[in-house]
Amino acid sequence: MRDLLPKDQRVWEKLRAVTRELGEAYGFERIDTPLVEASALFERGMGETSDVVEKQMFSLKAKDESALTLRPEFTAPVVRAYIQHGMSHLPQPVKVYYIGSLYRHEQPQEGRYREFYQNGFEILGGESDPIYDAQMIMVAYRFLEEMKIQKLSVQLNSIGCKQCRPLYRKKLVDYYKGKPACRTCKRRLLINPLRVLDCKEKECELIKKGAPSMIDSLCVLCRGHFKLVLEYLDEVKVPYILNAQLVRGLDYYNRTVFEIVTEGSDMALGGGGRYDYLMELLGGKSAPAVGFALGLDRIALMIDRQGIATEERKAKKAFFVNIGDLAKKKGLGLIESLRRAGVRVEESLGKESLKGQLATADKRGADIALIFGQMEAFEESIIIRDLKTGAQETVLLIKMVDAVKRKLHINE
Ligand code: HAM
Repeated sequence: MRDLLPKDQRVWEKLRAVTRELGEAYGFERIDTPLVEASALFERGMGETSDVVEKQMFSLKAKDESALTLRPEFTAPVVRAYIQHGMSHLPQPVKVYYIGSLYRHEQPQEGRYREFYQNGFEILGGESDPIYDAQMIMVAYRFLEEMKIQKLSVQLNSIGCKQCRPLYRKKLVDYYKGKPACRTCKRRLLINPLRVLDCKEKECELIKKGAPSMIDSLCVLCRGHFKLVLEYLDEVKVPYILNAQLVRGLDYYNRTVFEIVTEGSDMALGGGGRYDYLMELLGGKSAPAVGFALGLDRIALMIDRQGIATEERKAKKAFFVNIGDLAKKKGLGLIESLRRAGVRVEESLGKESLKGQLATADKRGADIALIFGQMEAFEESIIIRDLKTGAQETVLLIKMVDAVKRKLHINE
Protein backbone atom coordinates (compact mmCIF):
# COMPACT_ATOMS: atom_id res chain seq x y z
CA MET A 1 0.00 0.00 0.00
CA ARG A 2 1.32 3.44 -0.78
CA ASP A 3 0.81 7.09 -0.05
CA LEU A 4 -0.42 9.44 -2.73
CA LEU A 5 1.60 12.52 -1.88
CA PRO A 6 0.66 16.15 -2.56
CA LYS A 7 3.01 16.12 -5.58
CA ASP A 8 1.01 13.23 -7.10
CA GLN A 9 -2.36 14.86 -6.60
CA ARG A 10 -2.56 16.86 -9.80
CA VAL A 11 -2.86 13.66 -11.83
CA TRP A 12 -5.26 12.11 -9.35
CA GLU A 13 -7.46 15.19 -9.33
CA LYS A 14 -7.67 14.95 -13.11
CA LEU A 15 -8.55 11.23 -12.91
CA ARG A 16 -11.37 12.06 -10.51
CA ALA A 17 -12.60 15.02 -12.53
CA VAL A 18 -12.68 13.16 -15.87
CA THR A 19 -14.50 10.23 -14.21
CA ARG A 20 -17.17 12.65 -13.02
CA GLU A 21 -17.38 14.45 -16.35
CA LEU A 22 -17.74 11.27 -18.40
CA GLY A 23 -20.27 9.89 -15.91
CA GLU A 24 -22.43 12.97 -16.35
CA ALA A 25 -21.93 13.19 -20.10
CA TYR A 26 -23.12 9.60 -20.65
CA GLY A 27 -25.98 9.67 -18.12
CA PHE A 28 -24.45 7.63 -15.28
CA GLU A 29 -25.14 8.39 -11.62
CA ARG A 30 -22.60 7.97 -8.86
CA ILE A 31 -22.79 5.13 -6.37
CA ASP A 32 -20.63 4.49 -3.29
CA THR A 33 -20.59 1.15 -1.51
CA PRO A 34 -19.00 0.20 1.82
CA LEU A 35 -15.31 -0.63 2.17
CA VAL A 36 -16.19 -3.97 3.78
CA GLU A 37 -18.80 -6.50 2.75
CA ALA A 38 -19.73 -10.03 3.77
CA SER A 39 -17.03 -12.37 2.41
CA ALA A 40 -19.75 -14.57 0.89
CA LEU A 41 -20.66 -11.77 -1.55
CA PHE A 42 -17.26 -11.98 -3.22
CA GLU A 43 -16.94 -15.75 -2.89
CA ARG A 44 -20.20 -16.20 -4.72
CA GLY A 45 -19.87 -13.22 -7.05
CA MET A 46 -16.30 -13.47 -8.29
CA GLY A 47 -16.21 -17.27 -8.04
CA GLU A 48 -14.56 -19.60 -5.49
CA THR A 49 -11.93 -20.62 -8.01
CA SER A 50 -10.92 -17.13 -9.13
CA ASP A 51 -7.43 -16.02 -8.09
CA VAL A 52 -8.86 -13.11 -6.16
CA VAL A 53 -11.06 -15.30 -3.96
CA GLU A 54 -8.56 -18.15 -3.66
CA LYS A 55 -5.54 -16.06 -2.75
CA GLN A 56 -6.06 -12.34 -2.58
CA MET A 57 -8.84 -11.36 -0.22
CA PHE A 58 -8.11 -9.34 2.91
CA SER A 59 -10.61 -11.03 5.18
CA LEU A 60 -11.33 -10.49 8.84
CA LYS A 61 -13.64 -11.78 11.53
CA ALA A 62 -15.84 -9.23 13.26
CA LYS A 63 -16.62 -9.40 16.99
CA ASP A 64 -19.87 -11.22 16.24
CA GLU A 65 -17.88 -13.81 14.23
CA SER A 66 -19.24 -12.64 10.88
CA ALA A 67 -16.77 -13.06 8.02
CA LEU A 68 -15.99 -9.76 6.29
CA THR A 69 -13.70 -8.82 3.42
CA LEU A 70 -12.17 -5.52 2.33
CA ARG A 71 -13.73 -4.99 -1.10
CA PRO A 72 -11.49 -6.42 -3.85
CA GLU A 73 -13.80 -5.05 -6.57
CA PHE A 74 -17.00 -3.06 -7.04
CA THR A 75 -19.15 -5.12 -9.39
CA ALA A 76 -20.55 -7.59 -6.84
CA PRO A 77 -21.22 -4.78 -4.30
CA VAL A 78 -23.03 -2.73 -6.97
CA VAL A 79 -25.22 -5.71 -7.86
CA ARG A 80 -25.92 -6.30 -4.16
CA ALA A 81 -26.95 -2.64 -3.80
CA TYR A 82 -29.20 -2.90 -6.88
CA ILE A 83 -31.00 -5.89 -5.37
CA GLN A 84 -31.09 -4.57 -1.81
CA HIS A 85 -32.56 -1.19 -2.78
CA GLY A 86 -35.10 -2.53 -5.25
CA MET A 87 -33.50 -0.68 -8.14
CA SER A 88 -35.27 -3.01 -10.58
CA HIS A 89 -38.32 -0.78 -9.96
CA LEU A 90 -36.52 2.26 -11.37
CA PRO A 91 -36.59 2.97 -15.11
CA GLN A 92 -34.28 0.38 -16.69
CA PRO A 93 -31.43 0.09 -17.31
CA VAL A 94 -29.85 1.67 -14.24
CA LYS A 95 -26.54 3.30 -15.11
CA VAL A 96 -24.06 3.93 -12.30
CA TYR A 97 -20.41 4.84 -11.90
CA TYR A 98 -18.00 4.66 -8.98
CA ILE A 99 -14.48 5.55 -7.95
CA GLY A 100 -12.61 4.32 -4.89
CA SER A 101 -9.97 2.11 -3.31
CA LEU A 102 -9.82 -1.68 -3.46
CA TYR A 103 -7.77 -4.32 -1.67
CA ARG A 104 -6.12 -7.45 -3.05
CA HIS A 105 -3.34 -9.38 -1.37
CA GLU A 106 -1.10 -9.71 -4.43
CA GLN A 107 2.65 -9.83 -4.89
CA PRO A 108 3.39 -6.09 -4.97
CA GLN A 109 5.25 -4.84 -8.06
CA GLU A 110 5.10 -1.86 -10.35
CA GLY A 111 1.47 -1.37 -11.35
CA ARG A 112 0.23 -4.01 -8.93
CA TYR A 113 -0.55 -2.89 -5.41
CA ARG A 114 -2.42 -4.21 -2.40
CA GLU A 115 -4.41 -1.02 -2.14
CA PHE A 116 -5.31 0.38 -5.54
CA TYR A 117 -7.97 2.57 -7.11
CA GLN A 118 -10.51 1.94 -9.81
CA ASN A 119 -13.20 3.89 -11.50
CA GLY A 120 -15.94 1.89 -13.14
CA PHE A 121 -19.22 2.12 -15.01
CA GLU A 122 -22.05 -0.43 -14.91
CA ILE A 123 -25.33 -0.74 -16.81
CA LEU A 124 -27.80 -2.96 -14.93
CA GLY A 125 -31.22 -4.30 -15.97
CA GLY A 126 -33.14 -3.66 -19.18
CA GLU A 127 -32.24 -5.67 -22.25
CA SER A 128 -29.12 -7.71 -22.93
CA ASP A 129 -28.58 -5.37 -25.85
CA PRO A 130 -25.16 -5.43 -27.58
CA ILE A 131 -25.33 -1.66 -27.91
CA TYR A 132 -24.61 -1.41 -24.19
CA ASP A 133 -21.53 -3.62 -24.53
CA ALA A 134 -20.27 -1.28 -27.23
CA GLN A 135 -21.14 1.79 -25.20
CA MET A 136 -19.16 0.48 -22.22
CA ILE A 137 -16.10 -0.21 -24.35
CA MET A 138 -16.44 3.23 -25.89
CA VAL A 139 -16.66 5.01 -22.52
CA ALA A 140 -13.58 3.16 -21.24
CA TYR A 141 -11.71 4.05 -24.41
CA ARG A 142 -12.81 7.69 -24.26
CA PHE A 143 -11.63 7.97 -20.67
CA LEU A 144 -8.14 6.80 -21.61
CA GLU A 145 -8.13 9.07 -24.66
CA GLU A 146 -9.16 11.98 -22.47
CA MET A 147 -6.18 11.20 -20.20
CA LYS A 148 -4.05 11.30 -23.39
CA ILE A 149 -2.74 7.73 -23.05
CA GLN A 150 -1.02 6.71 -26.28
CA LYS A 151 -1.07 3.43 -28.23
CA LEU A 152 -4.28 2.04 -26.78
CA SER A 153 -5.40 -1.39 -27.78
CA VAL A 154 -8.83 -2.86 -26.99
CA GLN A 155 -8.67 -6.65 -26.76
CA LEU A 156 -12.03 -8.28 -27.29
CA ASN A 157 -13.57 -11.73 -27.05
CA SER A 158 -16.87 -13.48 -26.45
CA ILE A 159 -17.00 -16.35 -23.98
CA GLY A 160 -20.53 -17.43 -24.83
CA CYS A 161 -23.46 -18.32 -22.60
CA LYS A 162 -24.80 -21.17 -20.48
CA GLN A 163 -25.76 -23.01 -23.66
CA CYS A 164 -22.59 -22.87 -25.70
CA ARG A 165 -19.87 -22.55 -23.08
CA PRO A 166 -20.12 -26.11 -21.67
CA LEU A 167 -19.58 -27.49 -25.18
CA TYR A 168 -16.51 -25.33 -25.64
CA ARG A 169 -15.23 -26.26 -22.19
CA LYS A 170 -15.42 -29.92 -23.16
CA LYS A 171 -13.58 -29.26 -26.43
CA LEU A 172 -10.85 -27.45 -24.52
CA VAL A 173 -10.45 -30.19 -21.91
CA ASP A 174 -10.32 -32.84 -24.64
CA TYR A 175 -7.67 -30.82 -26.49
CA TYR A 176 -5.47 -30.52 -23.36
CA LYS A 177 -5.70 -34.25 -22.59
CA GLY A 178 -2.20 -35.78 -22.61
CA LYS A 179 -0.49 -32.41 -23.30
CA PRO A 180 2.43 -31.39 -21.05
CA ALA A 181 0.71 -28.36 -19.46
CA CYS A 182 1.94 -26.79 -16.21
CA ARG A 183 0.62 -27.87 -12.80
CA THR A 184 -1.66 -24.86 -12.43
CA CYS A 185 -3.25 -25.58 -15.80
CA LYS A 186 -3.78 -29.22 -14.88
CA ARG A 187 -5.59 -28.09 -11.77
CA ARG A 188 -7.58 -25.49 -13.70
CA LEU A 189 -8.68 -28.08 -16.22
CA LEU A 190 -10.45 -29.82 -13.35
CA ILE A 191 -12.05 -26.81 -11.66
CA ASN A 192 -12.24 -23.90 -14.13
CA PRO A 193 -10.92 -24.97 -17.55
CA LEU A 194 -11.30 -21.66 -19.43
CA ARG A 195 -8.64 -20.13 -17.19
CA VAL A 196 -5.92 -22.24 -18.87
CA LEU A 197 -6.10 -19.66 -21.66
CA ASP A 198 -4.87 -17.10 -19.13
CA CYS A 199 -1.69 -19.06 -18.32
CA LYS A 200 1.55 -17.07 -18.65
CA GLU A 201 3.94 -20.09 -18.28
CA LYS A 202 6.36 -20.63 -21.16
CA GLU A 203 5.68 -24.38 -21.31
CA CYS A 204 2.00 -23.70 -21.98
CA GLU A 205 2.46 -21.03 -24.69
CA LEU A 206 2.59 -23.42 -27.60
CA ILE A 207 -0.25 -25.60 -26.31
CA LYS A 208 -2.40 -22.50 -25.88
CA LYS A 209 -1.69 -21.38 -29.42
CA GLY A 210 -3.21 -24.52 -30.88
CA ALA A 211 -6.25 -24.55 -28.57
CA PRO A 212 -9.72 -24.42 -30.14
CA SER A 213 -11.20 -20.91 -30.24
CA MET A 214 -14.33 -20.01 -28.27
CA ILE A 215 -15.59 -17.79 -31.07
CA ASP A 216 -15.88 -20.82 -33.36
CA SER A 217 -18.02 -22.55 -30.73
CA LEU A 218 -20.49 -19.73 -30.05
CA CYS A 219 -24.18 -20.53 -30.44
CA VAL A 220 -26.22 -18.63 -33.01
CA LEU A 221 -27.53 -16.10 -30.45
CA CYS A 222 -24.12 -15.37 -28.94
CA ARG A 223 -22.58 -15.07 -32.36
CA GLY A 224 -25.26 -12.59 -33.46
CA HIS A 225 -24.78 -10.61 -30.24
CA PHE A 226 -21.02 -10.43 -30.69
CA LYS A 227 -21.30 -9.44 -34.34
CA LEU A 228 -23.48 -6.48 -33.40
CA VAL A 229 -21.01 -5.38 -30.69
CA LEU A 230 -18.32 -5.25 -33.37
CA GLU A 231 -20.56 -3.36 -35.78
CA TYR A 232 -21.44 -0.74 -33.16
CA LEU A 233 -17.77 -0.30 -32.31
CA ASP A 234 -16.97 0.20 -35.99
CA GLU A 235 -19.72 2.80 -36.11
CA VAL A 236 -18.17 4.88 -33.29
CA LYS A 237 -14.67 4.22 -34.65
CA VAL A 238 -13.27 2.50 -31.58
CA PRO A 239 -10.52 0.19 -32.83
CA TYR A 240 -10.30 -3.32 -31.34
CA ILE A 241 -8.36 -6.55 -31.73
CA LEU A 242 -10.05 -9.93 -31.42
CA ASN A 243 -8.23 -12.01 -28.84
CA ALA A 244 -9.53 -15.57 -28.62
CA GLN A 245 -7.52 -16.20 -25.45
CA LEU A 246 -8.99 -13.40 -23.43
CA VAL A 247 -11.10 -14.98 -20.67
CA ARG A 248 -10.68 -12.55 -17.70
CA GLY A 249 -9.95 -13.68 -14.19
CA LEU A 250 -13.40 -13.38 -12.64
CA ASP A 251 -16.11 -15.99 -13.03
CA TYR A 252 -19.20 -13.88 -13.55
CA TYR A 253 -18.72 -12.97 -17.19
CA ASN A 254 -20.63 -14.23 -20.21
CA ARG A 255 -20.54 -13.17 -23.84
CA THR A 256 -18.48 -9.97 -24.35
CA VAL A 257 -15.23 -9.63 -22.38
CA PHE A 258 -12.61 -6.97 -23.00
CA GLU A 259 -9.41 -5.49 -21.70
CA ILE A 260 -7.54 -2.34 -22.68
CA VAL A 261 -3.75 -2.41 -22.81
CA THR A 262 -1.12 -0.12 -24.30
CA GLU A 263 1.01 -1.60 -27.04
CA GLY A 264 4.30 -2.96 -25.75
CA SER A 265 3.03 -3.58 -22.23
CA ASP A 266 0.96 -6.50 -21.02
CA MET A 267 -0.34 -4.56 -18.03
CA ALA A 268 -4.11 -4.17 -18.46
CA LEU A 269 -5.27 -0.63 -17.80
CA GLY A 270 -8.78 -1.89 -17.38
CA GLY A 271 -11.26 -4.56 -18.24
CA GLY A 272 -14.84 -5.60 -18.13
CA GLY A 273 -17.63 -7.35 -19.91
CA ARG A 274 -21.15 -8.66 -19.70
CA TYR A 275 -22.39 -10.48 -16.59
CA ASP A 276 -25.99 -11.50 -17.21
CA TYR A 277 -26.09 -14.23 -14.54
CA LEU A 278 -24.67 -12.37 -11.56
CA MET A 279 -27.93 -10.76 -10.45
CA GLU A 280 -29.65 -14.13 -10.07
CA LEU A 281 -26.56 -15.70 -8.49
CA LEU A 282 -26.62 -13.04 -5.77
CA GLY A 283 -30.31 -13.61 -5.01
CA GLY A 284 -32.01 -11.07 -7.28
CA LYS A 285 -34.40 -11.46 -10.19
CA SER A 286 -32.55 -12.37 -13.33
CA ALA A 287 -31.38 -9.21 -15.15
CA PRO A 288 -28.63 -8.56 -17.67
CA ALA A 289 -25.70 -6.26 -16.94
CA VAL A 290 -22.47 -5.05 -18.48
CA GLY A 291 -19.65 -2.84 -17.24
CA PHE A 292 -15.97 -2.20 -16.81
CA ALA A 293 -13.40 -0.85 -14.38
CA LEU A 294 -10.13 0.96 -15.02
CA GLY A 295 -7.01 0.73 -12.84
CA LEU A 296 -6.27 4.34 -11.93
CA ASP A 297 -2.84 3.60 -10.42
CA ARG A 298 -1.77 2.06 -13.70
CA ILE A 299 -3.13 4.97 -15.69
CA ALA A 300 -1.23 7.40 -13.42
CA LEU A 301 1.89 5.28 -14.00
CA MET A 302 1.35 5.39 -17.77
CA ILE A 303 0.90 9.16 -17.70
CA ASP A 304 4.27 9.36 -16.00
CA ARG A 305 5.94 6.85 -18.34
CA GLN A 306 4.59 8.38 -21.51
CA GLY A 307 5.61 11.84 -20.27
CA ILE A 308 2.10 13.21 -20.60
CA ALA A 309 1.78 16.71 -19.18
CA THR A 310 -1.26 17.29 -17.01
CA GLU A 311 -2.43 20.85 -17.09
CA GLU A 312 -1.09 23.18 -14.48
CA ARG A 313 -3.90 24.66 -12.41
CA LYS A 314 -4.42 28.00 -14.01
CA ALA A 315 -5.64 29.94 -10.98
CA LYS A 316 -3.10 32.59 -10.01
CA LYS A 317 -2.20 33.03 -6.41
CA ALA A 318 -0.96 35.53 -3.85
CA PHE A 319 1.44 34.97 -0.98
CA PHE A 320 0.96 36.88 2.26
CA VAL A 321 4.17 38.08 3.94
CA ASN A 322 3.99 39.53 7.44
CA ILE A 323 6.69 41.17 9.56
CA GLY A 324 6.28 41.89 13.26
CA ASP A 325 3.66 40.96 15.86
CA LEU A 326 1.08 43.58 15.02
CA ALA A 327 1.15 42.70 11.32
CA LYS A 328 0.85 39.02 12.16
CA LYS A 329 -2.24 39.59 14.27
CA LYS A 330 -3.99 41.84 11.77
CA GLY A 331 -2.79 39.67 8.89
CA LEU A 332 -5.09 36.77 9.71
CA GLY A 333 -8.18 38.90 9.12
CA LEU A 334 -6.76 40.29 5.88
CA ILE A 335 -6.06 36.79 4.56
CA GLU A 336 -9.64 35.84 5.37
CA SER A 337 -11.05 38.82 3.46
CA LEU A 338 -8.94 37.84 0.43
CA ARG A 339 -10.10 34.21 0.59
CA ARG A 340 -13.72 35.26 0.90
CA ALA A 341 -13.27 37.31 -2.26
CA GLY A 342 -12.09 34.19 -4.12
CA VAL A 343 -8.34 34.92 -4.07
CA ARG A 344 -6.03 31.92 -3.62
CA VAL A 345 -3.69 33.06 -0.91
CA GLU A 346 -0.92 31.14 0.80
CA GLU A 347 1.28 32.15 3.68
CA SER A 348 3.99 30.94 6.06
CA LEU A 349 2.84 32.81 9.13
CA GLY A 350 5.26 30.98 11.41
CA LYS A 351 8.32 32.32 9.57
CA GLU A 352 9.91 35.52 10.83
CA SER A 353 12.21 36.97 8.17
CA LEU A 354 11.12 38.77 5.02
CA LYS A 355 13.73 36.86 3.04
CA GLY A 356 12.55 33.46 4.29
CA GLN A 357 8.93 34.25 3.48
CA LEU A 358 9.73 35.56 0.00
CA ALA A 359 11.77 32.43 -0.71
CA THR A 360 8.77 30.28 0.24
CA ALA A 361 6.51 32.43 -1.97
CA ASP A 362 8.86 31.74 -4.85
CA LYS A 363 8.95 27.99 -4.22
CA ARG A 364 5.17 27.83 -4.06
CA GLY A 365 4.93 29.54 -7.44
CA ALA A 366 3.01 32.60 -6.21
CA ASP A 367 2.37 35.42 -8.68
CA ILE A 368 2.35 38.27 -6.21
CA ALA A 369 3.51 38.86 -2.64
CA LEU A 370 1.48 40.98 -0.23
CA ILE A 371 3.98 42.49 2.19
CA PHE A 372 2.53 43.67 5.47
CA GLY A 373 5.02 45.07 8.01
CA GLN A 374 4.91 47.15 11.16
CA MET A 375 4.73 50.45 9.28
CA GLU A 376 2.03 49.24 6.89
CA ALA A 377 0.03 47.99 9.88
CA PHE A 378 0.11 51.49 11.39
CA GLU A 379 -0.66 53.22 8.12
CA GLU A 380 -3.39 50.74 7.17
CA SER A 381 -1.72 49.96 3.87
CA ILE A 382 -0.02 46.99 2.21
CA ILE A 383 2.68 46.48 -0.44
CA ILE A 384 1.78 44.43 -3.53
CA ARG A 385 4.87 43.06 -5.22
CA ASP A 386 4.79 41.40 -8.62
CA LEU A 387 7.05 38.38 -8.15
CA LYS A 388 7.79 38.05 -11.86
CA THR A 389 8.92 41.65 -12.50
CA GLY A 390 9.78 42.82 -8.98
CA ALA A 391 7.62 45.95 -9.45
CA GLN A 392 5.73 47.01 -6.35
CA GLU A 393 3.09 49.46 -5.21
CA THR A 394 1.55 50.43 -1.89
CA VAL A 395 -2.24 50.45 -1.58
CA LEU A 396 -4.57 51.28 1.28
CA LEU A 397 -6.04 48.24 3.04
CA ILE A 398 -9.58 49.22 2.09
CA LYS A 399 -8.55 48.96 -1.57
CA MET A 400 -6.47 45.79 -1.16
CA VAL A 401 -9.04 43.18 -2.27
CA ASP A 402 -9.89 45.04 -5.48
CA ALA A 403 -6.26 45.74 -6.30
CA VAL A 404 -5.27 42.10 -5.77
CA LYS A 405 -8.18 40.81 -7.86
CA ARG A 406 -7.22 43.15 -10.65
CA LYS A 407 -3.60 42.07 -10.51
CA LEU A 408 -4.49 38.37 -10.57
CA HIS A 409 -7.21 38.80 -13.21
CA ILE A 410 -9.90 37.35 -10.96
CA ASN A 411 -13.52 37.75 -12.23
CA GLU A 412 -12.39 39.51 -15.41
P1 HAM B 1 -10.26 -6.54 -12.91
O1 HAM B 1 -9.73 -6.95 -14.25
O2 HAM B 1 -10.01 -7.44 -11.78
O3 HAM B 1 -11.81 -6.32 -13.11
O4 HAM B 1 -9.70 -5.10 -12.57
C1 HAM B 1 -9.82 -4.01 -13.47
C2 HAM B 1 -8.53 -3.22 -13.51
O5 HAM B 1 -8.12 -2.85 -12.20
C3 HAM B 1 -7.35 -4.00 -14.06
O6 HAM B 1 -7.35 -4.02 -15.47
C4 HAM B 1 -6.19 -3.20 -13.50
O7 HAM B 1 -5.93 -2.06 -14.30
C5 HAM B 1 -6.70 -2.74 -12.15
N1 HAM B 1 -6.14 -3.60 -11.09
C6 HAM B 1 -6.55 -4.82 -10.70
N2 HAM B 1 -5.78 -5.28 -9.69
C7 HAM B 1 -4.87 -4.31 -9.43
C8 HAM B 1 -3.78 -4.16 -8.50
N3 HAM B 1 -3.51 -5.11 -7.60
N4 HAM B 1 -3.05 -3.03 -8.54
C9 HAM B 1 -3.32 -2.05 -9.44
N5 HAM B 1 -4.33 -2.13 -10.33
C10 HAM B 1 -5.08 -3.23 -10.34
C11 HAM B 1 -12.68 -5.95 -12.13
O8 HAM B 1 -12.34 -5.57 -11.04
C12 HAM B 1 -14.13 -5.98 -12.55
N6 HAM B 1 -14.96 -5.61 -11.39
C13 HAM B 1 -14.34 -5.05 -13.73
C14 HAM B 1 -15.77 -5.01 -14.18
C15 HAM B 1 -16.68 -4.03 -13.91
N7 HAM B 1 -16.38 -5.93 -14.90
C16 HAM B 1 -17.65 -5.58 -15.09
N8 HAM B 1 -17.83 -4.43 -14.49
